[in-house]
Amino acid sequence: MRRGLAAGNWKMNGTAASLGEVEALKTAHTAPSVDILICPPATLLDRLSAVTHGSAIATGGQDCHPAKAGAHTGDIAAAMITDAGGTHVILGHSERRADHQETDAQVCAKAKAALEGGLIAVICLGESLDEREAGQTLDVIGSQLAGSLPDGLTGATAVIAYEPIWAIGTGKIPTIEQITEVHDFIRADLVARFGAEGEAIRVLYGGSVKPANAAEIFAVANVDGALVGGASLKAEDFSPIISALEAAKG
Ligand code: PGA
Repeated sequence: MRRGLAAGNWKMNGTAASLGEVEALKTAHTAPSVDILICPPATLLDRLSAVTHGSAIATGGQDCHPAKAGAHTGDIAAAMITDAGGTHVILGHSERRADHQETDAQVCAKAKAALEGGLIAVICLGESLDEREAGQTLDVIGSQLAGSLPDGLTGATAVIAYEPIWAIGTGKIPTIEQITEVHDFIRADLVARFGAEGEAIRVLYGGSVKPANAAEIFAVANVDGALVGGASLKAEDFSPIISALEAAKG
């Protein structure tokens, strides 16, 4: 019932030279049985959206400000993402929580702004290695869910990404049992809070997803796709991840 989603987070990577990677993805996946999303840096969003226009690939931002407009140097508003062709926005990524001290309350405010602006909010959660080793993972995820998610989310307006911080960019991934435990916990929390819509909200896994490990991660029932950083930058890496998701969920 939930359609798979393969989402690429380019982070602070990509210039005009990277647009060819998306041309290659577009050619390789003309009628995918899962959704595909690329979130480039803001400077590339307009150009990348022009490349993907009319294709099966959606585009989005990596952050938005809670306000609609104003004196916020360096920030972008939800409506600017829409104006540049984006349909989604990643919010509360652990790198923004660390680099910019974003709190759950700020992530929640940004998510409200995204929804008001008509964007699909991809809200990120995840524990640190210290928290995992202290046995606090589910407590941390529970409190991030409670604090970062606004009321009224639906399967059409929100996506959750579970990204253990210690797995991001490290080549380490949790065991399949650990991924299953957290995704089942998130699903139960979403259903308790949002009812039937909690069944429809997709929950992605993120953190060192590669072509070699994608199939086993996608075999987990409550994993509806992936948020992919490093392996989304090159079509030759991202394309097999999309294909693995199609094989598992398409
Ligand atoms: P990674 O990043 O795939 O490079 O580990 C994932 C993410 O931070 O979204």
